[in-house]
Amino acid sequence: MAPARTRLHNKDGHVRPFLKWAGNKYQIIDRIRQQLPQGRRLIEPFVGSGAVFVNTRFDNYLLCDNNPDLIHLYTLLQEEGERFIRYCKRLFTGEYNNAESFYQHRERFNQSRNKRQRAALFLYLNRHGYNGLCRYNASGGFNVPFGRYAHPYFPEMEMCYFHEKSANTEFRLAGFEESFASAQPGDVIYCDPPYVPLSSSANFTSYSAGGFDLDQQQHLADLAEASARKGIPVLISNHNTPFTRKAYGQADRLIKFKVNRFISCKGENREDASELLAMFDGI
Ligand SMILES: C[S@@+](CC[C@H](N)C(=O)[O-])C[C@H]1O[C@@H](n2cnc3c(N)ncnc32)[C@H](O)[C@@H]1O
Repeated sequence: MAPARTRLHNKDGHVRPFLKWAGNKYQIIDRIRQQLPQGRRLIEPFVGSGAVFVNTRFDNYLLCDNNPDLIHLYTLLQEEGERFIRYCKRLFTGEYNNAESFYQHRERFNQSRNKRQRAALFLYLNRHGYNGLCRYNASGGFNVPFGRYAHPYFPEMEMCYFHEKSANTEFRLAGFEESFASAQPGDVIYCDPPYVPLSSSANFTSYSAGGFDLDQQQHLADLAEASARKGIPVLISNHNTPFTRKAYGQADRLIKFKVNRFISCKGENREDASELLAMFDGI
């Protein structure tokens, strides 16, 4: 196991999510916080690793995602706190950090019907698997290969913080349409859907079985517009492409900026991606 971090906050005062997650918004958290209006409750229809959740202060949260493994993990951490953290920690010993153990644990995860065991194994796979990817085959089996990290980090401090912060939080397994349907005046919605592809050959939309196509991207934009008309503000993040600029054409503001992030599965392939924040004010 890697030595525990001694500080929860990084030098800029940000908290890291306890899961590695493709497309997580830790790097651009200040940009997002600048745009998010105040409100009683923050709704995140695409919560992922919860980078926005752990770095904002709303009185209440409704955090949704359509990945059942993710939502079950959060629910167990919320309910059990330290007891669940201790249960997960047993998996983070050098003994289990080798290819043979990894594939045994992956098989156990895929066979397990026990929610608690599955949740702990999901965290183990996230930290020991290749690039922290979350990918399933057509039958729903987790199929990410071993990551070969010298010392996988056990995110104890980050999990404790997540647990404490989840006191006034509802986690819900839901598609984004259902999350929008739950919004009330006084809520603020932050949407971080899977990115639209930068080019036709790029395809990073398979976060969970099913993917997320351009029709769904357009439907999300339409829901944001309708929500704003009802007085509920919506912020959406995505790549800055001709498609997104058109889809978010009714937004009150489009904020564009560059960010250096991993674009390919190969860690060395970094690129400056152009990001877009679309703010639908809701007034
Ligand atoms: C870009 S990630 C969100 C990252 C998150 N903001 C963070 O900081 O980690 C997109 C998320 O959307 C979820 N997702 C994909 N399709 C969805 C759908 N139709 N409804 C709800 N969630 C969905 C995926 O499981 C994934 O967690």
